[in-house]
Amino acid sequence: MVTDAYGPLPRFPDGFLWGVSTSAHQIEGAADLREPSVWDVFTAEPGRVKDGSTAAVACDHFHRYPEDVALLADLGVDAYRFSVSWPRVNSPGGLDFYDRLVDALCEAGVQPVPTLFHWDLPAGLDWLDRDTAYRFADHVSAVADRLGDRVPRWITLNEPAEHTLLGHALGTHAPGKALLFDALPAAHHQLLAHGLAVRALRAAGVTNIGVANSHSPVEPASADPADVEAAVFYDLLLNRLFADPILLGQYPDGTAALMPEGAEDDLRIIAEPLDWYGINYYAPARVGAPQEEPTEFGGVALPAELPFSLREFEGVPVTDFGWPVVPEALTGLLTGLRDRYGDRLPPLVITENGCSYEGLDDQDRIAYLDGHVRAVHAALAEGVDVRGYFVWSLLDNFEWAEGYARRFGLVDVDFATLRRTPKASYRWYRELLRAQRG
Ligand code: NOJ
Repeated sequence: MVTDAYGPLPRFPDGFLWGVSTSAHQIEGAADLREPSVWDVFTAEPGRVKDGSTAAVACDHFHRYPEDVALLADLGVDAYRFSVSWPRVNSPGGLDFYDRLVDALCEAGVQPVPTLFHWDLPAGLDWLDRDTAYRFADHVSAVADRLGDRVPRWITLNEPAEHTLLGHALGTHAPGKALLFDALPAAHHQLLAHGLAVRALRAAGVTNIGVANSHSPVEPASADPADVEAAVFYDLLLNRLFADPILLGQYPDGTAALMPEGAEDDLRIIAEPLDWYGINYYAPARVGAPQEEPTEFGGVALPAELPFSLREFEGVPVTDFGWPVVPEALTGLLTGLRDRYGDRLPPLVITENGCSYEGLDDQDRIAYLDGHVRAVHAALAEGVDVRGYFVWSLLDNFEWAEGYARRFGLVDVDFATLRRTPKASYRWYRELLRAQRG
């Protein structure tokens, strides 16, 4: 059944790019055909992944990509965002896989949109080392030289904020370091890697370059100055620390002092002009002053010594992951970015938006996506230049420390048989795309 419970969607501008997203480590499998990444090392440690699973097979997309490309073609998306695994590119024949994938996408009439780093750092490299940024630029050059003739749009990094916070500050993602504020050099080196990657891509002659930064609009738990101060700090750490250097060429309020020595000299590289700016949006955050009891961040306990705590939203639905569903916060995020960055903000693309729910008749996912697509349209109506929207995700996949327990896909994957079954939300999105073009 295709739900039309929400009425027809408003018309988006011609040329608006509709897509879906995935990432290499979460879907490819075929771990035996590439070098290990920090995620392979991390998942091998007992207790790191909630269901004890690994991504050694995942959706087996490496072998089943023709079936997945057929699903994309049948869905009717304009574009497919995937990531290029750096450890695979380092392995014999690794780039051949992406060559085949890009050819298959082009043949199916789906634009390939690769992300050049989506958290699966080659084991043995470390974002705490400055040199990793330069190694990344070499990786980017190799990929652009091979795929640049067919790839119309590029993404440097995925969510350096989460990779820093979860992987290096809290240790709940790979590489599992719990350094709290000593994790900040990993943020700087990823930002430097982003700027060097933009330069490497331009040197390879490709264009249409962006980044996928996570953004979560922050609201203080109350008007109490301690809550407001905590909310401002959280916003600075999770949103502005990664957007300001890229878009304004500066670190926000006092944070430069926390970065490695000489970091400010890198800002010119980090702020290399982009063709567009990608936003991964899932939910807003409600933040208050620290509490004695640890609070949670996306299922992760935050240490009580942090200068903020996360609070629940009252009276809003939550996904299976417990994330609040607040579509209008996306409109506010988009207009807020426009107001904050003004003419320094390139056109925007929603590079991820989605939710985790169980079941094939996933009416909750349809309601979530419908609300968020409308929220994007509301931002367009307010004059924000948004050029595209990508659903996370095409397939149920390996949701990092949660293992296979969280299902974000438009297509169900039975992880015992690897059988793909489109969900109701897949049919809903297909109808949306048809209606937009009709
Ligand atoms: C953002 C990440 O980029 C992606 O890898 C992850 O699966 C989704 N969020 C959902 O948590």
